[in-house]
Amino acid sequence: MSEATPVENLTPDEAAAELARLAALIAEADAAYYQEDAPVLTDAEYDAARQRNLAIEARFPELKREDSPSDRVGAVAQDGFAKATHAAPMLSLDNAFSDEDVTEFAGRIRRFLGLDESEPLELTAEPKIDGLSLSLTYEKGKLKRAATRGNGLVGEDVTANALTLNDIPTKLAGKDWPDFIEIRGEVYMSHADFAALNAREDQAGRKTFANPRNAAAGSLRQLDTEITKSRPLNFFAYAWAAESAPFAETQSEAVAKFAEWGFQTNPLMATAATVDDLIATYRNIEQQRATLGYDIDGVVYKVNRLDWQQRLGFVSRAPRWAIAHKFPAEKATTTLEEIDIQVGRTGSLTPVARLAPVTVGGVVVSNATLHNEDEIERLGVKPGDTVEIQRAGDVIPQVLRVVQDGGGKVWHMPDTCPVCGSAAVREIDDKGEADVRRRCTG
Ligand code: IVH
Repeated sequence: MSEATPVENLTPDEAAAELARLAALIAEADAAYYQEDAPVLTDAEYDAARQRNLAIEARFPELKREDSPSDRVGAVAQDGFAKATHAAPMLSLDNAFSDEDVTEFAGRIRRFLGLDESEPLELTAEPKIDGLSLSLTYEKGKLKRAATRGNGLVGEDVTANALTLNDIPTKLAGKDWPDFIEIRGEVYMSHADFAALNAREDQAGRKTFANPRNAAAGSLRQLDTEITKSRPLNFFAYAWAAESAPFAETQSEAVAKFAEWGFQTNPLMATAATVDDLIATYRNIEQQRATLGYDIDGVVYKVNRLDWQQRLGFVSRAPRWAIAHKFPAEKATTTLEEIDIQVGRTGSLTPVARLAPVTVGGVVVSNATLHNEDEIERLGVKPGDTVEIQRAGDVIPQVLRVVQDGGGKVWHMPDTCPVCGSAAVREIDDKGEADVRRRCTG
């Protein structure tokens, strides 16, 4: 069985093994993302792993594991911050990857609500901000607590840090807010602030951040509030929970209230009456993506009527009334000039492709990861080749394939560490298999 075996061809034994592999992979990816702020999978790979897990579980419900990733969102709270239990779980969103997926989403909603063709179904469309979600508890209009998502049920109490953000009101403006409400939204860092922060970190000889989302997460989850204060973080409010009294009839009305109460709300949010309208809004937002000045990775659609949201409710980890229409990964072609070796803190050697700079989705890319020597062999890539690269809105760009052979020499991983000169070896495990990574023995 390989990773590529279609779900419909899996035997029960293979399916069980695959569910075990995916549970471990997703748990590792969650820990890297939530606890280390250092993702090991791209968003596209992560989504693919979750989709495959769901598809296998749908075909073999009896094989669903106790620790199934579909029952879990994110990872547990990190030591250092107090734990904060959310008044209502912070859930995730299902994904749509094509126009057909969006049509199906609208169809499911219509069937569930029993709407006939003639009845309008209004939806909102807004950018999916690529940051980290934050829940703000307001009691009698005063900010009482700010909490990260954590595992969706329990997050980290980051109140002291959240108070340093200009976009987070300590007191709500106006007075028509419920006595109790959790306002939810996304903390993010702009491209310009991210570049300036990394330049400062680099100058100071500190580790730089891989992308604006990691920079935002790393800046908010600081035990030293002074550090958070020095970091330029922004916040968009887009959701709420556990309100003590109703305050709006539609999603758009609720978000308009947030703006009155003193929050930043996304100016590109729109309503759409048909699926064609939704897709048109998606294309419009996608066109503006490169010039927005902050990362977005898709468009979120939500049923506008709140009484309908209520009736639709939730399935597993996501609401039935919303979906995230993801942008496809962006690709470009360029020359791979050199393969350099990066030595990690644990001594692992990672080959990195140095590229002729190329713009991918509005961002200039000059490096891409090659993961390990097996990957280089699989791709058959050598310095001088023309390669296709992909940037999935996050993490480090990847080399997808060789487009044209540059006639250069076959490249081999060094067997000594480029930093200290000690031998670099691939460890052999109990089963006699070589580790994909080469490590410095020094
Ligand atoms: S609505 C119950 N709206 O995407 C659904 N989420 O994959 C509440 N996100 O955890 C989420 N932009 O961190 C919503 N405009 C937006 C969003 C958004 C980014 C994030 C959020 C959520 C994740 C789900």
